[in-house]
Order: sequence, then C-alpha cells, then structure tokens
Amino acid sequence: MSFFDSLVKYGIPFVPRPIVGRVARNYVAGNSIDDAVRTLRALNEEGAMGTVDVLGEEVQEPVKATAAVGEYLRLLDRIDKEKLDANISIKPTMLGLKIDQGMCEENLSIIVERAAGYENFVRIDMEDHTCTDSTIQLYRRIHQTSPGSVGVVLQAYLHRTIADITGLLPLKPNIRICKGIYREPREIAWKDFETIRSNFVYATEKLLSSGAYVGIATHDPHLVWAGMKIVDRLGLDRERYEFQMLLGIDPELRRIILSNGHRLRVYVPYGQDWYPYLLRRLRENPTVAHHALLAMIR
Ligand code: FDA
Repeated sequence: MSFFDSLVKYGIPFVPRPIVGRVARNYVAGNSIDDAVRTLRALNEEGAMGTVDVLGEEVQEPVKATAAVGEYLRLLDRIDKEKLDANISIKPTMLGLKIDQGMCEENLSIIVERAAGYENFVRIDMEDHTCTDSTIQLYRRIHQTSPGSVGVVLQAYLHRTIADITGLLPLKPNIRICKGIYREPREIAWKDFETIRSNFVYATEKLLSSGAYVGIATHDPHLVWAGMKIVDRLGLDRERYEFQMLLGIDPELRRIILSNGHRLRVYVPYGQDWYPYLLRRLRENPTVAHHALLAMIR
C-alpha cells in the first residue's frame, strides 16, 4: 500500500459523519426493513440471492440485544411474507456475546428456531479474534438442534482456520469462507496478500472436497476463478456451494458469476448503526476512502 493510501485509510475516522454517510449509500440498503426489502427484490430480479444483516455490534446492554432479536424476527417474517430469496447474517456481539455467552446463545436460538420454521437459514458472521472460539462454540451447539438452519464464517487470514475446518468437518458444516476484515496481530494472522489468497483456496478446496456447503465470499477475481476451477474439477452441482459478495462492490463481477451459471448471494446490510461497518469497508478500499476525503475537502 502506498504512503498516500495509508494516509487516506487512517485519515477516514476524521471525516465528518455526514460525508461518510454519503458514501454509505453504496454499501448499505438504508435505515429500515423496507429499504432492505426493496434492495432484495432488485437483487432477486437480477438472479442473485440475498443475506440480510441488521447493522449493529458490540452491544453492552441486554436490552439492546433483545431489541436486535426482535428486529431479526420481524425481518424473517417479512422475508417469508414477501417471498424473497434471502436468508440472514448475524454478528454474535449484537446478540450480547460480549455480555454473556449463554444469553447470546439463547438469543440466537430464538432466531434460528424462527428461521427453521420458515425453512430459512441463519449465518453467524465472524468478528475479531476475541470472538473466534465462542462463535465456533455457538455454531456447534446450535447445529446440534438445527443442523440445516445455521452456518458460520471462517477467515482465511487466521493461522488457525485450517485446523478449525478439520475440527468442524464431521458436522458436514455450512461455512462461509472469506479473507477476514479485522486488524489482527501477526502472531495469529497471515499478513501477506498472496499467503491469504493461498490459504483461502486451500480452505475452499478442503471444505468442498469433504462435503461441506461453502459460501465463497470474495470480490477478488482470482479467487472467484479459483473457486470456479475447484467446483469444476470436483464435478460439484450448483446446490453444493454459492459465491457471495457485499452490496455495493463490483456489480459487474456479480453478473459475470451469474452468467457463468453459478449461484450468487449478496450481503445486504441495513439499519441506523452503519458507521463501524462502513469504516471497515473504507479502510479495506483506499480508493473509495479517497473519494470521501476529496468530498470533505471540496
Ligand atoms: P480484496 O480485498 O483483495 O478485494 C478484491 C477487489 O474487490 C478489490 O481489488 C476491489 O476492486 C474490490 N473491493 C474490495 N473491497 C472493496 C470496497 N470496500 N469497496 C470497493 N471495492 C472493493 N469478513 C469477516 O471478517 N467476517 C465476516 O463475517 C465477513 N463476512 C463477509 C460476507 C461477505 C458476503 C463478503 C463478500 C465478505 C465478508 N467479509 C467478512 C469481508 C472479507 O473478509 C473481506 O474483508 C472482503 O471481502 C474483501 O476481501 P476480498 O476477498 O473481496 O479481496
């Protein structure tokens, strides 16, 4: 990364929120369930599926975790009522993981039960390394009662991920594999771009060749190609995997994936609490952050 890119990346927290908010429009469906529904309908018309994330994380008060459960239940009801091709994604810290793991599990179970009633599905997002063990434990426990209705995320940048896959394979797990977005120390995470890519490919291959369902979550064309190559070589039918992308990033790649006959799911965040999510997106792409900084200067 160039010196200028680093400057842009670390300068973003000083940009006033209203300006960052303008950039948010690309990455976030809006403030309400209605906004998410509109975005999902458009994606479904395009041939893509959705996974909806209610924005919010690091909840410290049980009442806020309970409110998040209520919002996710309303969301599941609405997805079913509107007959949308969409599931949901949840950050455990929004359901109180940092307050009490048992409470978080209860909250998550309520949501998964509702999803299972609709034959829908809940993806447990993966947050920073302080949450990895507890998130995998949550997945294992909820998988016992609702194996077909829950999945988890693993991050290719973590040294431990291949071992985590080995441990989870007996469950025939449903895993989203992604590079990983949090800033992690070198003791636990690969830092080099090519090594993370290689580990992503290794993890994807290990999962797919062992019978796991895999969400291949990336906008990196090299990894999309590598994923297509693996499923072709293994002769997998399209119900065994899906590609996944974030809302607002590279719609042309979305069309390329779909037109090659693969299934694609788009991650659709909505809600008032968009700032931390957007900050991560901007840090990951200095070009977009650059536009935000220029807008501020203007
Ligand atoms: P990379 O970052 O190399 O990007 C490839 C190309 O995509 C770039 O060259 C650029 O063109 C484009 N691009 C990437 N980011 C962009 C941006 N913000 N704006 C504009 N263009 C951009 N992480 C995590 O830790 N836990 C999780 O639960 C999830 N969940 C998740 C779900 C889904 C559906 C996706 C796609 C990703 C995640 N992630 C995640 C994020 C993931 O770990 C990773 O940070 C991003 O996907 C970026 O990595 P890429 O593989 O896209 O490659």
